[in-house]
Amino acid sequence: MKMSRGAFLLAVACLMSPTGEGLDNGLALKPTMGWLHWERFMCNTDCDTQPDNCISERLYMQMADVMVKEGWKDAGYEYVCIDDCWPSRQRDAQGRLQADPKRFPGGIKKLADYVHSKGLKLGIYADVGKNTCAGYPGSLGHYETDAQTFADWGVDLLKFDGCFMDWKLLGDGYTNMSKALNKTGRSILYSCEWPLYEWPFQKPNYTAIRETCNHWRNFDDVFDSWSSIKSILDWTASHQDTIVPSAGPGGWNDPDMLVIGNFGLSHAQQESQMALWAIMAAPLLMSNDLRDICPRSKKLLQNKLIIDISQDPLGKQGHLSAKLDSFEVWERPLSKRRLAVAVLNKQEIGGPRIFSIRFVPGWKICDPQCNVTQILPQYKEMGVQTLQSKVLLYIDPSGTALLTVTPLSSPLKNPHKLYWKHAV
Ligand SMILES: *[C@@H]1O[C@H](CO)[C@@H](O)[C@H](O)[C@H]1NC(C)=O
Ligand SMILES: *[C@@H]1O[C@H](CO)[C@@H](O)[C@H](O)[C@H]1NC(C)=O
Ligand SMILES: *[C@@H]1O[C@H](CO)[C@@H](O)[C@H](O)[C@H]1NC(C)=O
Ligand SMILES: *[C@@H]1O[C@H](CO)[C@@H](O)[C@H](O)[C@H]1NC(C)=O
Repeated sequence: MKMSRGAFLLAVACLMSPTGEGLDNGLALKPTMGWLHWERFMCNTDCDTQPDNCISERLYMQMADVMVKEGWKDAGYEYVCIDDCWPSRQRDAQGRLQADPKRFPGGIKKLADYVHSKGLKLGIYADVGKNTCAGYPGSLGHYETDAQTFADWGVDLLKFDGCFMDWKLLGDGYTNMSKALNKTGRSILYSCEWPLYEWPFQKPNYTAIRETCNHWRNFDDVFDSWSSIKSILDWTASHQDTIVPSAGPGGWNDPDMLVIGNFGLSHAQQESQMALWAIMAAPLLMSNDLRDICPRSKKLLQNKLIIDISQDPLGKQGHLSAKLDSFEVWERPLSKRRLAVAVLNKQEIGGPRIFSIRFVPGWKICDPQCNVTQILPQYKEMGVQTLQSKVLLYIDPSGTALLTVTPLSSPLKNPHKLYWKHAV
């Protein structure tokens, strides 16, 4: 191994505390967990030919049923979220948004009641501009009415998109809706896309965003492909000095949905998405078909140890800390001085490659000793280690090894001395 050559450590400003106060609505103290329809079901409104896969009340009711029955709720997944294409093309006589009457015959209030009866929460979607991205009515000029309508229906989360909006008004629009939601008196988690739509024109003000939103999309929509996941990781790494300090309890960077359990990712790539989304303190919003998901993907999405990293109470987002020989090392500080480490093998040829754990920059917490547990690709207690540890990781192409490292402050007594005592 020649890994010390070409090793490249990244200086990051990630040790700074969060940029400022989060939105004071008591929500998203940990990254949001749930399910969101967009990536898997998109704008399928053809319920005549595809009744099981179209955007209709049935889809969310069935997903809620499965979430309770199949252990998703117990694992922490809580929000069942509607994306675009739910409304009617027209507002009602009072100027309120209304659900498409054919696809949502019971209306959203009844759907919210159903979801609540399962102990889950309901998310809905709207847009800060004139229209939603798919051309349905937008909320511009109707923020207070729409916020009140969602509150009256018992909605628990709003995903607020940024299509068809003058970019110079984005800040005003997102802020006005945040105030309108607050004014309803109902706790509604507020998911924004303000920075995503502002970046093409200027650097967004993350202090203002954190004061306004519970999470915010920065970059393109996720697709069901490894190239999409890589582009999101690359964007995040190259902007980490700007975005990592803005994350903390109450407000998170949102790299978009988990596409685990669909068609486009190998199992190793699914493990990489799960591991890195936990390291990034990202909302864990799955977009897949929970009614029909492969057991291995299900087990990965419900892995308690990975979810514990995601939901760690310290609430600090991790960052890329080193790049060497087509490996990327990502680290996230956890509570109790622990550390989560993800090592991603970015070489997409050959077989598993070996990475020596001593090249992890945060390995210095192993002075004098630490306890290491590997979570991915399989659970393995690696035991007590030191700075001189010879532990090697075996990582598949486009796969990730995920570990937790717990510093041990009091070293075990010198074993030679113990032996000597016994001998005497
Ligand atoms: C509205 O904002 C105030 C002040 O920031 C906060 O104390 C209150 O809890 C908020 N209410 C809701 C429903 O978010
Ligand atoms: C936001 O609210 C302010 C104050 O009411 C108003 O002047 C402004 O036009 C609003 N902006 C948008 C985009 O709604
Ligand atoms: C960013 O937003 C904060 C909070 O609204 C504000 O105090 C600050 O002046 C803004 N910074 C810039 C550079 O506009
Ligand atoms: C190391 O971690 C494993 C797994 O969590 C645990 O069972 C073990 O007791 C720990 N060992 C020490 C010395 O803390």
